[in-house]
Amino acid sequence: MSALTELYKEIALCKKCEIAKLRTKAVPGEGAENAEIMFIGEAPGWHEDQQGRPFVGPAGKFLDDLLVSIKLKRDQVYITNVIKTRPPNNRDPLPDEISNCRPFLDKQLELIHPKMIVTLGRYSMAMFFPGNTISKIHGTAQKRDGVLYFAMYHPAAALHQQSLRQTIEADMLKIPALLAEARSIPEARPEPPPPAPAPQTTQMKMF
Ligand code: URA
Repeated sequence: MSALTELYKEIALCKKCEIAKLRTKAVPGEGAENAEIMFIGEAPGWHEDQQGRPFVGPAGKFLDDLLVSIKLKRDQVYITNVIKTRPPNNRDPLPDEISNCRPFLDKQLELIHPKMIVTLGRYSMAMFFPGNTISKIHGTAQKRDGVLYFAMYHPAAALHQQSLRQTIEADMLKIPALLAEARSIPEARPEPPPPAPAPQTTQMKMF
């Protein structure tokens, strides 16, 4: 079993928060284990709670369209959320819920090790761009520790506020060039030592 699958089991069993009692399914995240790009949303909604999969409701449909616009398929990327359980009535995640779930997100980052992280919405942005506001930094990127971080509005924002749709679409179109740039960022994690040299096989000269 892969380390990621082990982690999904751990997430499904987690009872640290009260909201664990209310969930149908935990929503750990999904996508390519070797994805170069990871999208991090806020929290599962009703549809996600039913299916145990991230971004499968109306906001997810829009995210799918956005991915198509940059010629990426869901199985080429990794998608997860700041918290892995649906808050009741889709309320905002509480600080304790965010900190209880943080080790799961950290483990996902360690295992998937993406070159680019796209934050979707305020909560995810607050984690990676602390002290900023989404209206100021959406569509901008920062390089840190070998990773390119890119902030976007949450796709659901376009469903509530039509005027944001074009902004979100335009920000998404910046991703291909940024991902190309992210690929060229030197690795921050120390490389494992090179394998020991193979034994010499040169033939001894016979006189
Ligand atoms: N909104 C999110 O932030 N995440 C989901 O998975 C679905 C909706």
